[in-house]
Amino acid sequence: MSHRLGLLGHPVAHSKSPRIHQAFAASLGLELSYEAIDVEPGTFAALVEALFTNGYHGFNVTVPYKEEAYVAVDRLSDRARLAAAVNTLLRTPEGILGDNTDGYGLVHDIVTRHGIALRGQRILVLGAGGAVRGVLDPVLKEQPASVTIANRTQVKAEQLAAIFATQGEIQATPMADLRGPFDIIINGTAASLGGDVPDLPAELCVGATLVYDMMYGAEDTAFLRWAKTQQPKQCLDGLGMLVSQAAESFRLWTGHAPDAEPVLQRLREELSQPSGLLP
Ligand code: ATR
Repeated sequence: MSHRLGLLGHPVAHSKSPRIHQAFAASLGLELSYEAIDVEPGTFAALVEALFTNGYHGFNVTVPYKEEAYVAVDRLSDRARLAAAVNTLLRTPEGILGDNTDGYGLVHDIVTRHGIALRGQRILVLGAGGAVRGVLDPVLKEQPASVTIANRTQVKAEQLAAIFATQGEIQATPMADLRGPFDIIINGTAASLGGDVPDLPAELCVGATLVYDMMYGAEDTAFLRWAKTQQPKQCLDGLGMLVSQAAESFRLWTGHAPDAEPVLQRLREELSQPSGLLP
């Protein structure tokens, strides 16, 4: 069966998702179309309905529509409900299902791909926006010793800690009051987008097993550059998370789990050599 899929966002022109999903399909010998669809503000819910009526099987949803998708669906997975955001839409006999694979992508990248356990670890998560809310439930399911959330706007960190209090050991701490040691530090702020680093105590990353930035780029993000001066054991950017969340969405749509590793390798090469393209 041929799958008709797409990405809904605004803007979407530079998205890597079409090439990621086409590469997954090619590796499995599946027929699939995956288009990047630029959705005009104010038209999201009506467009989704029309596209599903016209034979599409599923979508990824990206900025700025993950929250709109959350309210537009007929049913939600538990992880999408806790995230209050949807990054994957599926047509099912019971209507449109909204799921969220972002947290799966983060945990898969850290635990499965890089073999770094979250269980029993002291985790610091920076930021309290949609990106962080999207990953907290899968992180807490790994049963870390503790999750501390710190955000520039403290009240938002407190709100998130309250929402997830029933899911595990979680607390909010003002950035200026952060005292380590933390085993794993995850940056989920948008600061790296502007080349900034959150205002954090010096030496926060000293002794950490892993410092992770959910953002990625051709070069280290500003946050990873800052962290590396403190020589934590390992630093990772969010490219692996991107590919792993895509692989999980692909599995939900097609029932096939793709091998994400060759695609990740190609994307990494492509980042360092902008002319290289995935098949
Ligand atoms: P996203 O969906 O990427 O999470 P968001 O919901 O707008 O986007 O959240 C952005 C996050 O990055 C917030 O936690 C924001 O902090 P505030 O809540 O204080 O706004 C954080 N952020 C953005 N720029 C930042 C910067 N320069 N320094 C520190 N935190 C920053």
